[in-house]
Amino acid sequence: MSAVEFSSFPQGGVAVVFGASGGVGAALVENLRAGGGFAHVAALSRRSDPAFDLTDEASIAQAVASVAQRGALRLVIDATGFLHDEAQAPEKALRDLDAANLARAFALNAIGPALLMKHVLPALAPSGKAVFATLSARVGSIGDNHLGGWYGYRASKAALNQFVRTGAIELKRRRPAALCVALHPGTVRTQLSDPFTKDGLEVQTPQTSAARLLGVMDGLTADQSGGFFDHLGLPIPW
Ligand SMILES: NC(=O)c1ccc[n+]([C@@H]2O[C@H](COP(=O)([O-])OP(=O)(O)OC[C@H]3O[C@@H](n4cnc5c(N)ncnc54)[C@H](OP(=O)(O)O)[C@@H]3O)[C@@H](O)[C@H]2O)c1
Repeated sequence: MSAVEFSSFPQGGVAVVFGASGGVGAALVENLRAGGGFAHVAALSRRSDPAFDLTDEASIAQAVASVAQRGALRLVIDATGFLHDEAQAPEKALRDLDAANLARAFALNAIGPALLMKHVLPALAPSGKAVFATLSARVGSIGDNHLGGWYGYRASKAALNQFVRTGAIELKRRRPAALCVALHPGTVRTQLSDPFTKDGLEVQTPQTSAARLLGVMDGLTADQSGGFFDHLGLPIPW
């Protein structure tokens, strides 16, 4: 793993990864800690101290307040997300749609991250570059949807993208140097993707994806706030 050497953020400050227990989230923390570009790197999950749960806004508010006490929030990454578990699989066809499963996908992929934005964006460093990035997915792109299927995951990530775009517009009024973006990590070998990776698809290690994502975040400029980018920094259509 090559640690990213950040060049665009003011010295010091705090980096935070929400979802540090996930495949990509853990690799992001590892890279940030190895690089030393931030004075403090906070790794938050449902089992950290403080802990947060996407379905519990009070826990989100407490976690954000706690990390904001450690210094200026320069880089806050939301690496949470949900695709499947033993109770729920991505829908192949309309006949598979289930109201409770759809509500769960929206709660975890859109509403929880939106509540994170609600508490994180006003707490970002008041001047100089600061970034809030949430991990979305290319399949959340409406313009790029040629295959169908995965209704709940696609629709909840599309909703997340709209939250990001809308939050970025509000953020620009108060913190013109700050960014709010949606990033696609590429296909990454984690428990989330394992049942679905096919031969021929470029599957990255979490370490490779994390290094690429951090490089993208370092390279983004304020005029790119509100955008949706992949792990190579290329824009993805909404
Ligand atoms: N892997 C891929 O190929 C791929 C492709 C495109 C997009 N993405 C996106 O990239 C992001 C990271 O994916 P990943 O592959 O690293 O997935 P992962 O290994 O399954 O990690 C998911 C993370 O979300 C957290 N999470 C789930 N429910 C939560 C809740 N209620 N409260 C707090 N945290 C919760 C998990 O915490 P626990 O450990 O507590 O469950 C875990 O930290 C996701 O947004 C995913 O949609 C991944």
